[in-house]
Amino acid sequence: MKRDEFLSQLGISFVAVCAGSCLAACGKGDTGTPSTGGGTVTPPKPPTNVGFTVDLNTELRNVGDSKVSNGVIVVRTAAGNSVSSFTAVQVACTHEGSSIGYSANQGKFVCPNHGSEFSNSGSVITGPATASLKTYAIAISGTTLSVSG
Ligand code: FES
Repeated sequence: MKRDEFLSQLGISFVAVCAGSCLAACGKGDTGTPSTGGGTVTPPKPPTNVGFTVDLNTELRNVGDSKVSNGVIVVRTAAGNSVSSFTAVQVACTHEGSSIGYSANQGKFVCPNHGSEFSNSGSVITGPATASLKTYAIAISGTTLSVSG
């Protein structure tokens, strides 16, 4: 068998397996229970060399407000314009890379895909994620918040 024939057969097999899995996960028989993932999706690496600013006069004014930029989500977790009133972590879940959100009521990050939860400092509270979120440095000068890392 020639190499391209072999690869072609692999491609067809992969598509067939993937389609079967997707249909099984999303078909009528789905119970609505989130998948715990099959370990087949590798989350993206957290962004590096991040650098952006937030104008606190117009953004992140209320506790729970968030902004996503450069693959990072920065959230106001408390009143006042001190560094401890904010947190910044990678927005991609460490499980399979879905974008996490911040639950102001619960005071933690939640992934809508399979339900992983992370503390304000990025630590895993609830899986299936097992790795912490990368955190980014925050600095404040006047009403300008800078995120870097
Ligand atoms: S992608 Fe699976 S819990 Fe976030």
